[in-house]
Amino acid sequence: MSRRGFLGAAAAASALPLLSGCDDSGGRQASALQFDGMVEFRHGVASGDPEPDSVVLWTRVTPGEDMPVPVRWEIAEDEAMEEVVAHGTVVTDASRDYTVKVVPRGLEPHRHYWYRFSVGEARSMSGRTKTAPAPGAAVERVRFAITSCALYSFGYFNAYGGVARQPDLDVVFSLGDYIYEYGADDLEGTNLLPERHMPPSHAAVSLDDYRTRHAVYKTDPDLQAAHAAHPWICTWDDHETANNSYDDGAGNHDEAVDGPWQDRKRAGIQAYFEWLPVREEYNPNHGADFYRRTRYGDLVEFFVLDTRFDGRSPPPENAEEAVDPDRMMMSAAQERWLIDGMRRSGARWKVVAQQTMLAPLELLPGEPFLADSWSGYIAQRNRLFEAFGGSDGGPAIDNVVVVSGDIHSTFCNELTPDSRDRESYVPGERGSVGVEFVCPSVTTPLAIPIGVGAYFRLLHPHIRHSEGTSDGGHGYAVLDIDARRCEAAYFYPLSVLLPSQQERSGRVLQLREGETVLRLMPLLAGDP
Ligand SMILES: [Fe+2]
Repeated sequence: MSRRGFLGAAAAASALPLLSGCDDSGGRQASALQFDGMVEFRHGVASGDPEPDSVVLWTRVTPGEDMPVPVRWEIAEDEAMEEVVAHGTVVTDASRDYTVKVVPRGLEPHRHYWYRFSVGEARSMSGRTKTAPAPGAAVERVRFAITSCALYSFGYFNAYGGVARQPDLDVVFSLGDYIYEYGADDLEGTNLLPERHMPPSHAAVSLDDYRTRHAVYKTDPDLQAAHAAHPWICTWDDHETANNSYDDGAGNHDEAVDGPWQDRKRAGIQAYFEWLPVREEYNPNHGADFYRRTRYGDLVEFFVLDTRFDGRSPPPENAEEAVDPDRMMMSAAQERWLIDGMRRSGARWKVVAQQTMLAPLELLPGEPFLADSWSGYIAQRNRLFEAFGGSDGGPAIDNVVVVSGDIHSTFCNELTPDSRDRESYVPGERGSVGVEFVCPSVTTPLAIPIGVGAYFRLLHPHIRHSEGTSDGGHGYAVLDIDARRCEAAYFYPLSVLLPSQQERSGRVLQLREGETVLRLMPLLAGDP
């Protein structure tokens, strides 16, 4: 806490002529603002959406009284913050829940930077971030983590702690369910940790509710550490608004009780953009597309999808509806953008970062296990598979890697429309058009009875590895990509019931350049 006097106009200027700080939030640049209040930084710092010359920097201030706050930011080339390359001051206020988002430009590609914020003598923790490589640059290696599904009250975010301690990550992906909208009623009968209560106690519906929920999450030390250690690229799934959401409604939304869906959706989106380090230019509340792509030199291009609010149809009610060709997980425009973009990408590896499991998963043949996942939107999935494999009339797309979350379990899949057709598909050998790595949840359990994981693998030969389906295994995965191969390593904290840094290493799976099949890497001696 601190007391602060006058902030002069000079504080708004940047240090070097080539570098400028741009307030990306639509907020005001501080020119000369009188501020004499108390401020705390309780919610950590974050960075995101790295580009070769810029990255979003984020924090949130908690003022002692409701008044506009000028927040000074600085970004440096060194951890000691002695070589500051840009700084500035922006004003935040209640209209954006006292969150701060700035985008320093003119940074160098593919290098680390350190940043922090201050108001008077009150100073935030420091964060480390990393810009993306220049688009055509020769890049030897890219490493990134994938995470999803963190229900605060179900456990400690040890998986995020593990992500924070991972050395050399270029970026961390949040593939959805960063928060959960559920209230105490929705979670009755489950094992909640009393010390992990997440206000509001009712389900989040209003803007205030979503802001309150995000604020609780951002007090978590492991989540703060993971944000402070690496830049993130974030995309939402359903629970950032409401369970099983789509463009015009949600499973967990009753207009008679909760009011108009569009109001709730708009509120969830607004709070998400306030509280996460996502570029404002992707904000659908302002008419923009949330789906986007980021290039990491000549090695990797990431395609980040929005399969929730860009033309998604409601989930199917039965197996017939699941194959309806008009049923959409994303708009035709996004589908075209994805396929054209992957086809024309100059990067060696095309990584699709998205929400629900893409590979087929059925309880019985023809019966989707989760109608809310891609198995409820089969026609559009098949169009993607045809494009990847080049059977749609266009050229095949090589080195396709899909990363997904949502299902609270590890699945490593070869992508093929019907894996029971042994004429066209032989597991581990031929017939697949790419691979998929699904990460386990940070904390959220999935009640799949013991033995069903093995049953799934039997029914679906394209599932080459799965874990955690019966024991609620939680964790994250790290993908390591170079010119020769893409390797996924899984990590499982020993428990979510206590704060702990202990984690178990799971299997490592490899996709070799030019191939479409998964290899399970040998276990090291002594591994379980
Ligand atoms: Fe989830």
